[in-house]
Amino acid sequence: MTDTVTLILVGATGRTGNAVAHALASRSDVELDSVVAPSVATTPTRPLPAGIRAFASLAEALVTAPSDAVVVDLTHADAARVNAVTTLESGRHLVLGTTGIADADLEELGARFAAADLALFQVPNFSLGAVLAIRLATQVAAYFPDVEIIETHHDGKRDAPSGTAVHSARAIAAARRAAGLTPGPAGDIATGEEAAAGMLRSRGESIDGVPVHALRLPGATAHEEIVFGAPGELLTIRHDAIDRTCYAAGVVLAARRAHEFTGLTTGLETLL
Ligand SMILES: NC(=O)c1ccc[n+]([C@@H]2O[C@H](COP(=O)([O-])OP(=O)(O)OC[C@H]3O[C@@H](n4cnc5c(N)ncnc54)[C@H](OP(=O)(O)O)[C@@H]3O)[C@@H](O)[C@H]2O)c1
Repeated sequence: MTDTVTLILVGATGRTGNAVAHALASRSDVELDSVVAPSVATTPTRPLPAGIRAFASLAEALVTAPSDAVVVDLTHADAARVNAVTTLESGRHLVLGTTGIADADLEELGARFAAADLALFQVPNFSLGAVLAIRLATQVAAYFPDVEIIETHHDGKRDAPSGTAVHSARAIAAARRAAGLTPGPAGDIATGEEAAAGMLRSRGESIDGVPVHALRLPGATAHEEIVFGAPGELLTIRHDAIDRTCYAAGVVLAARRAHEFTGLTTGLETLL
């Protein structure tokens, strides 16, 4: 029998947080202590799970939460930075699912969590399928150095490219470097000859040398294609999040194991 993990979910009325809140509330291995969203003060943006304490701010939720409750944040970058400090000051571990926070801010927060012997576990994607797609891509990158990423999200997503695409690009670049490979000249969109000559009107953003393209469309949820090319062949790894309940299992895994870390740790793959 698995021990239960106690959670406070911040952002529980959001597209992602709401699906996760309902999924967590129905799991027997989770004690969902409370959910948080500003609209709780008036009318919640989306209906919250019945029988779970709801608060308009994290600070209010923390007053009565058990000391071992793990805070899970699925809000937006500005709110998440503030919630991170509130979590830290309460002496609790944080699982940060919110994306779009600047690297420098994450590092600074991570140092503060480390000094307090607490975890800041940043998980850009809680979906097991998405994490495995990244792992597969790092294996392919050792043989196919030419690769680009196309991520597609719903039109309400505020940051671009997605945290998952940034994380994928960095992991692929690291694997490519470890294999001693470099991409061909077309992949060099940040510093190549065409870029210097101002010829690249639209070739995405180079993240650690991997071109990343972001699409924002109604009808989409969260999708990523990692496309490798070599003479005469293309190899595509694709992941589609169809329903946001796919994130719940990863949230539980991350929260259950967060206490194993100190300071900033990134990616669910750390636990696989
Ligand atoms: N890690 C992953 O696997 C994963 C997966 C999908 C999305 N995400 C990320 O999760 C974040 C949320 O995405 P979304 O599409 O669900 O956004 P969303 O629909 O805009 O929801 C935002 C949520 O944050 C709440 N919020 C806003 N300000 C807050 C504050 N100061 N304190 C507490 N809660 C606050 C909102 O509450 P009100 O409704 O009351 O305003 C709402 O519940 C984004 O960064 C997204 O990239 C991560």
